[in-house]
Amino acid sequence: MHEDIKSIEREFAEEIEKVSSLQEIEKLRIKYLGRKSVINQLFSKIPHLSKEEKASFGRNLNILKQKITECIDSKVSLFRDKEEKIDVTFPAEGIYFGRKHILTSVSEEICNIFEKIGFVVVEGKEIEDEWHNFTALNIPLEHPSREAFDTFYLKLPQDDKGKYLLRSHTSPSQIRVMENTSLPLAVISPGRVYRPDKVDASHSFMFFQIEGFCVDKCISFSHLKGVLLYFAKSFFGDDVSLRFRPHFFPFTEPSAEVDISCMICKGKGCSVCSRKGWLEILGCGMIHPKVLKHCGINPNKYSGFAFGMGVDRIAMLKYGINDIRLFYENDTRFLRQFYEV
Ligand code: PHE
Repeated sequence: MHEDIKSIEREFAEEIEKVSSLQEIEKLRIKYLGRKSVINQLFSKIPHLSKEEKASFGRNLNILKQKITECIDSKVSLFRDKEEKIDVTFPAEGIYFGRKHILTSVSEEICNIFEKIGFVVVEGKEIEDEWHNFTALNIPLEHPSREAFDTFYLKLPQDDKGKYLLRSHTSPSQIRVMENTSLPLAVISPGRVYRPDKVDASHSFMFFQIEGFCVDKCISFSHLKGVLLYFAKSFFGDDVSLRFRPHFFPFTEPSAEVDISCMICKGKGCSVCSRKGWLEILGCGMIHPKVLKHCGINPNKYSGFAFGMGVDRIAMLKYGINDIRLFYENDTRFLRQFYEV
């Protein structure tokens, strides 16, 4: 019996020397300390021994069990230490710092282009009233854009300027500036606008616009064309051209929609421009005399042009992005692509 203890001890000593992983140690633990282990089998023999043997055999068996337990535990901690060792030669994970959002950079880039030719940046208000968003801009009371399904109205007490709302375009900036600024003026006004549109690949209930306008004596449509062509070439490249299509806006007369020659296919026709060779980028026109009057400006002495463009759309065109939702989901894998190094 005492021989059994010695041979188990020897066998265990040999085996524990050979282990090379935590799993192998676990196997040894089961073999020597588990319910069906040889040691447990020896324990079960104790009741059948004589009184004297019981005491010494039991004691030796307990000592063996104790030794094996300690030996296994120290081996486990040895392996754990090894596994947790830090490999200082391992390549470090990159740290990404916060940067400007792509829409912020594009908006700033556009504003800078206009600032170079004397435009001044003025930010308007996101919470507007009916007067500034519609009435002063010559948008009649029955115009569909005033309906609740095209404009977010706010539950705020209304005053003589009508109901409060989230601006549906940046054009109210024209009114705010013209009401308060001496002439001549040339202003570029970026910011968020809101429309209760169903969200899809090309619509969002909130997006960014940039409004530009200039008022002075003798401002004509050719000034507008020159400024917009300068912008398009600076932003998209020297080889783009513009096309002005007659359009209607209540606050400009005459009005036009402006297309840019497709920068992907250079006007030949591709899937981005739906084979047309042209992409719509903005609305514009000569500020309506009624709008000037609403701001206390004499339309017989002064004239002006205005234009408004969607920043999201322009960023999508420039970077070949096909879904507006990508801008607002804040997936850093998307946003990181536009970080300058
Ligand atoms: N406010 C117009 C829109 O949101 C754009 C525009 C601005 C058109 C200025 C003409 C002049 O669609």
